[in-house]
Amino acid sequence: MTATSSLNGKHVVLGITGGIAAYKSALLARLLIKAGAEVQVIMTPSAREFITPLTMSTLTGKPVITEFFSANTGEWHSHVDLGLWADYFVVAPATACTLAKMSTGVADNMLVTSYLSTRGKVFVAPAMDLDMMAHPSTARNLAVLQADGVSIIEAAAGELASHLCGKGRMAEPADIVSALEAYASRGTSLAGKHVLITAGPTRERIDPVRYIGNFSTGKMGYAIAEEAAARGAQVTLVSGPVSVRAVHPAIRVVAVESACEMLEAAEQAFDNADIAIMAAAVADYAPAIMAERKIKREHTPECTLTLKSNPDIAATLGARKRDGQFMAGFALETDNERANALDKMKRKHLDMIVLNSLRDAGAGFGTDTNKVCICTADGDCREYSLKSKAEVAADILNAIESCIAQQS
Ligand code: C5P
Repeated sequence: MTATSSLNGKHVVLGITGGIAAYKSALLARLLIKAGAEVQVIMTPSAREFITPLTMSTLTGKPVITEFFSANTGEWHSHVDLGLWADYFVVAPATACTLAKMSTGVADNMLVTSYLSTRGKVFVAPAMDLDMMAHPSTARNLAVLQADGVSIIEAAAGELASHLCGKGRMAEPADIVSALEAYASRGTSLAGKHVLITAGPTRERIDPVRYIGNFSTGKMGYAIAEEAAARGAQVTLVSGPVSVRAVHPAIRVVAVESACEMLEAAEQAFDNADIAIMAAAVADYAPAIMAERKIKREHTPECTLTLKSNPDIAATLGARKRDGQFMAGFALETDNERANALDKMKRKHLDMIVLNSLRDAGAGFGTDTNKVCICTADGDCREYSLKSKAEVAADILNAIESCIAQQS
């Protein structure tokens, strides 16, 4: 760590909670400052039992914040200002109690309130006894936080304060700094690139109140959009109706409803795109005719829908792909997975296909996790473990970036 660290000049809020590993937070603050970061410490009331605010304020050169206002001067400590100030918000150590509060938004102290106001990237370094660490409620809370975009800096296994041995030791301060540095230095790999992403389901109208749809929530496509934007890309996200929101300002959302609308919007953005990622679950069929009025059971005791094929957006764009454009698609399969995915990649002129199997628990529609196998045009396939959709998005973009680097 030198003055050229990617943390140089960054604003870091260091949240300290009441665990024995709090003594390591002093070293963490020191390393962050050595890396060039400006550090503001927030302590929970019980953290003060483990390490003194005086130690932390001396190391950081800033008064430590614990309460909503100063008992001496009555000065208000604005969690909103702190949240806006922070490029990075790292809670180390993060106790089971604070993880639970963060995952459910229980804003009863300055640390959790500031967390809820933070727009910057959040990391937590859990530290607790092994049985607390292994408890299903801790796993649940960590999974919720991860789905909310928080990065977990895993606890290590070893001897614990209780003298028991197991997983629960806070990650070493140098490793925590490395995790932040790795995140801070990743922001430019897609700078200057335009990325087109399709996401979510499409809806095909039967009549003014009914439609044919599917279970896609758009979470995977939105996670890819956030990751691409975080790497510096300009993103056009052509999205079917979903309840997730895009957060990064470099994402332009084009909201559409049907496959035909999605094709039109995707075609408009395609020529300008360096990378196109087709993550939408497009309905294969649409009613041949949409009834102009609500179909009534009284008048239509038996109703037969005639369906017509929808355009294949990936195949249409793939057919007009120019040199230097990279296209990836998804394949959700139930059997003969790899062969079907490879065939799909070829038919649609894709450079990469991301395979999900509905046979894998935690993969596919609606979940916050996914398990994928990424296949490239040379027939190479790599299996990944079950991860959060944000992490899968990073894997997909890493794979795309390394393919592009090999092509050029
Ligand atoms: O043919 P299948 O639907 O299995 O192919 C999945 C891939 O093709 C996904 O990348 C999906 O976004 C894309 N697709 C499309 N337009 C369609 C059907 C699928 O872009 N009409």
